[in-house]
Amino acid sequence: MAALPTLSTDRLSLRPFRMSDAPDVQRLAGDYDVAKGTLVIPHPYPDGEAERWIASLQRDEEAGTLVTFAIVLREEGRVIGFIGLDIAAAHQQARMSYWLGQPYWNHGYCTEAVRAVLVHGFQQLQLHRIYAPHFLNNPASGQVLKKVGMVYEGRLREHYLRFGRYVDVELYGLLEQEFDRR
Ligand SMILES: CC(C)(COP(=O)(O)OP(=O)(O)OC[C@H]1O[C@@H](n2cnc3c(N)ncnc32)[C@H](O)[C@@H]1OP(=O)(O)O)[C@@H](O)C(=O)NCCC(=O)NCCS
Repeated sequence: MAALPTLSTDRLSLRPFRMSDAPDVQRLAGDYDVAKGTLVIPHPYPDGEAERWIASLQRDEEAGTLVTFAIVLREEGRVIGFIGLDIAAAHQQARMSYWLGQPYWNHGYCTEAVRAVLVHGFQQLQLHRIYAPHFLNNPASGQVLKKVGMVYEGRLREHYLRFGRYVDVELYGLLEQEFDRR
């Protein structure tokens, strides 16, 4: 298997997760305000979940169905979040997801990470389409997707069941040719 890539931006390094990141993942993802914006982070966050999750990422990356990065502040070497692409290779498309620990919100870090992953997805992974759903009640995520130029594609009504409630989703997408033109 080829080595997993590391991407660099002005302030961030996007690198593969390591098992030693588990305590940071547990601390940051264990926050309900982080979990509630995501599709899958459990809450309460059980001991051992971060280790299990990191091991599962490594398996899925080897299978070619997932590309994930720990979002790391370059100057401090500190893990502040996650970004990844769930790849449907048969359709040359991927679903993007991300989360950041709450102390790091509203500094533009997610926008910076998303831009780098779009470049990677279209140029290195040769994807045709990258899309990202966000919960209707999560405008910060929508703002990130607007800032990077993703196209609003509509609302999926009660598309996910999250913490016992059906939730509406706003869908954004970008095609390779739209990305090229920017
Ligand atoms: C969504 C999330 C990743 C954004 O990360 P971030 O690093 O704070 O994002 P950025 O700083 O790049 O951009 C956030 C933008 O949202 C805006 N924003 C923040 N709260 C907002 C709100 N309540 N309403 C509208 N806009 C809001 C910010 O002002 C900023 O926009 P601006 O640069 O135009 O001012 C982060 O809030 C998070 O991890 N949330 C919990 C997990 C989650 O929801 N993941 C997304 C799943 S789809």
